[in-house]
Amino acid sequence: MIIAVDGPAASGKGTLAQGLARHYGLPHLDTGLLYRAVGVATQAYENDEQFETRAISAARALDATHLADLEALTSAEAGNLASKVAVIADVRRALFDFQRSFATQPGGAVLDGRDIGTKICPDADVKLFIQADSKARMERRARQFESRGQVVDRYALFHQIEERDARDMHNPNGGFYKADDAHLLDTTQLSIEAALRAAIAIIDKSM
Ligand code: C5P
Repeated sequence: MIIAVDGPAASGKGTLAQGLARHYGLPHLDTGLLYRAVGVATQAYENDEQFETRAISAARALDATHLADLEALTSAEAGNLASKVAVIADVRRALFDFQRSFATQPGGAVLDGRDIGTKICPDADVKLFIQADSKARMERRARQFESRGQVVDRYALFHQIEERDARDMHNPNGGFYKADDAHLLDTTQLSIEAALRAAIAIIDKSM
């Protein structure tokens, strides 16, 4: 069983995908981490003409060991860098096989990202498209950073999320839109537990 979970930054898709993986006993891949790892590896070239070629090399060299430093990968800066490398077609191409082999392992998997239902697993058994309004997403992300002891500028964070959404949605190489056969789940008013219950109900009904 392949479950595809897509949605914008801080929509709750990662937490939801983790919960689904636990519930159905499936392995889970947060595909945003791949783009974040490439972004972080290329950070030193952010304003350099080599940025693109360095990002492509980093994507081609990527393996699971690059995904271990969660603290560095989940920073706001890493998210921003990720969305900059994510517009490069050869970066997406280089990361395709990694995601595809994870998805097609025996028994299935849960993958979350932006283009799982459209590009990586158009053949997924169930597709969920998660949405939540920008203010709710900003507030969730702010609390996540605060729980790590970080000071958060909510105004700046809100704009950062909106900027990243815009870049992701207009990414010509992306595929960030709701697949026709994806189920829409709005989590603006839902707790983590309620969102998970709703997702399980959708999946059980469609299997
Ligand atoms: O999901 P997360 O916020 O960690 O993703 C970081 C960035 O990586 C996104 O803003 C997006 O630009 C990129 N991404 C992508 N395709 C995916 C997952 C993430 O383009 N499947």
